[in-house]
Amino acid sequence: MHDLNFISMRGVSKSYRHAGKLNPVISQVDFQVGVGETCAIIGPSGAGKSTLLNIVGLLDVADAGEYLFMGRSVANAQNDELAAIRKMQIGFVFQNFNLIPRLTVIENVALPLRYRGMDRAHSLEHAMCMLQRVGMAQRAGYKPADLSGGQKQRVAIARALVGEPSLILADEPTGSLDNQTASEILELLLSIQKEKNVTLLIVTHDQGIARLMQRQVVVRGGVVVELNA
Ligand SMILES: Nc1ncnc2c1ncn2[C@@H]1O[C@H](COP(=O)(O)OP(=O)(O)O)[C@@H](O)[C@H]1O
Ligand SMILES: [Mg+2]
Repeated sequence: MHDLNFISMRGVSKSYRHAGKLNPVISQVDFQVGVGETCAIIGPSGAGKSTLLNIVGLLDVADAGEYLFMGRSVANAQNDELAAIRKMQIGFVFQNFNLIPRLTVIENVALPLRYRGMDRAHSLEHAMCMLQRVGMAQRAGYKPADLSGGQKQRVAIARALVGEPSLILADEPTGSLDNQTASEILELLLSIQKEKNVTLLIVTHDQGIARLMQRQVVVRGGVVVELNA
């Protein structure tokens, strides 16, 4: 079914230097994700889940190993090349929403399109369509501070998806939400994922959410281990 790898890592390692000492976080990770696949990343706090997701999302670079993103080697890519891939291909969703407080909801959602050079009027049109899709059109003129957590995450999802990325990376997207809101947010994310056949990686502590993904992997002891259903 997933004959094409979207992400393919071999022997990927990352250490952080702290107080002059090198602390390995992930070591010799092999990890493949197919196009359109959904995968949950679970594991204890501090295990390296965010580090792995940041490397996948080209926000961080590995110290060693091979990483193919859509078949292209990015291990030695320059920062501006990585930024260009992020801008065109990846949507990010974070636990704390990361909306820009001084911008309205619709301006937040339009931002990725503005970064791509789209003019303001068109970017706002696209943003409004996405806000409709996530049920937030009525709040287009609000500031993030005037929204509930669940509403903020709907807006963040609209922002992540407005540019039609081929990959969505969500780092504990429901970690700040109550159970009811969390499942609504997940339902929304998965329905758009299916519609667009986007590849989705989600870091979560919630077993119920992890089970909604086609695959579950655990980050433990610096490596990625596949969980069998
Ligand atoms: N920028 C950084 N500088 C130094 N250490 C870091 C940095 N980012 C993460 N770490 C360390 O790497 C380990 C894994 O962190 P992280 O990937 O955030 O784990 P998780 O998301 O699974 O909770 C932790 O011990 C953390 O302290
Ligand atoms: Mg984390």
